[in-house]
Amino acid sequence: MKICVLNCSPKDDLSITLQTILYLKKWYQEKLNEDEFEIIPAFSGTVTENIEEAVRKAELIIMSGAVFHFDVHSSMGELLDMLSDNYHDLIKDKPVTFLSTSGMLGDTMAHNRFELWAKRNDLKYINSLSLESMEILSPTGREELFCWFKYTKAMAEYYKSRTMPKAKTKGRVVLMDTCEKEIPKIASAIKAAKLRFEASGFETEVITLREKDIRHCTGCQCCFSNRTCVFNDDWEKTFEKLYLNTDMIVFFGELHYATLGNCYKTFLERHACLGRSGIEDEVIKSYFFILDDKFDREDISAFKINCETFDGLNCSYLSDVCEIDNNEKMQELYDKMTIAYNSDIMPQNGFLKNGIRTGFAKVAASVKNRCPGDYSYFKNLGCYDTIQASPHIQWLDNAEDAKKDREARLIPFKMTLSHLEELPAVTERRKFKSLSVIERQRAAARGTEIYNH
Ligand SMILES: Cc1cc2nc3c(=O)[nH]c(=O)nc-3n(C[C@H](O)[C@H](O)[C@H](O)COP(=O)(O)O)c2cc1C
Repeated sequence: MKICVLNCSPKDDLSITLQTILYLKKWYQEKLNEDEFEIIPAFSGTVTENIEEAVRKAELIIMSGAVFHFDVHSSMGELLDMLSDNYHDLIKDKPVTFLSTSGMLGDTMAHNRFELWAKRNDLKYINSLSLESMEILSPTGREELFCWFKYTKAMAEYYKSRTMPKAKTKGRVVLMDTCEKEIPKIASAIKAAKLRFEASGFETEVITLREKDIRHCTGCQCCFSNRTCVFNDDWEKTFEKLYLNTDMIVFFGELHYATLGNCYKTFLERHACLGRSGIEDEVIKSYFFILDDKFDREDISAFKINCETFDGLNCSYLSDVCEIDNNEKMQELYDKMTIAYNSDIMPQNGFLKNGIRTGFAKVAASVKNRCPGDYSYFKNLGCYDTIQASPHIQWLDNAEDAKKDREARLIPFKMTLSHLEELPAVTERRKFKSLSVIERQRAAARGTEIYNH
């Protein structure tokens, strides 16, 4: 595949994002002999002849760049505007994605701006990746990068051929109807989704939430100590059906003030009895909606951000949100989920990941006596490790020193790159999926663990 990388990072060849691209190039071009990477400096905000030529030939465009002040770098912003205002014919219909490195604070805004730009200017947007700058120095970070790129390439291929992907292994998809009353448009969308996923080779199950007897959480907090709700209704059975052995979940509902409404919210609030770590669900998700009679178009973008927050928090992978109207677009999203599944995409992948987890770790820490499962979960993630200030840190008072400092910071990245002899190991996904989350949480609360036999 011909890949054009537009390197929009202000540090150019001293950029960590560019190092990350070089890792991809090493794996996919040198080791797998699959791709041609053309990496073009694109920091000036202008469309040079080089950029024009590379974009014309490209089968996939990657914008690489840092997150600055919560957004894409200003120079990348200029480049995007220049491309869409003056080169629309050149870029339209091209598959495009964005790879950023950042401190992981507020990277969502940068990625949302990029996604809006790509979709509004008729490019084929492929879910982008935000890595924390040190992440590729760890095996998990490299695995995440590797699998995300597998997905990106498969999506670019899909946009060429539009053939329905087959599930790589037999998986299970749950389709959940969250509406308070039956809505024919949603019922028929669920039927169509079921057919599409089954044709790809998945096992499917439909859950109709309104048929379940699920009572409102009263906040009594009894569950905080023993992980069992005082209500003996359908919540537990419904939760087990939704998550046990499940790989993907598709939610269907009516969009009501940027949420899926009260029936869905009632169900979610009862997740409290699992503690935070109980909803470490690691599934691939999408949300399909129709607009209710009070709708405003703004509800859609707010809904997307709500889903990102919620799914980032739950360590699941949000594929996309989609209005139920255009059949072709809906099928594209089912296929996109299948491709994500086939590519072993990291369930935790996605922006908000670290920021949200660390934020929640603080909350979990403050209630640790009541939620032992939460505390050990976050501790295992390393969220409580304190970062010691380096004794070598000093003020730099001229540009030469600053340059040397940047070069020094790149050394571990370059060293790792020069030792990448093997492709990253792809670890087993959702290895606990056949264990009940509820049982796992109760065991954690007791201070024991249950294992997969
Ligand atoms: C002026 C400035 C603003 C930044 N703003 C953010 C930010 O809002 N959110 C974030 O997560 N990281 C932020 N960062 C960190 C960079 O995104 C991060 O260091 C990135 O890895 C740099 O990539 P590069 O080496 O490719 O330029 C900022 C860095 C600088 C210098």
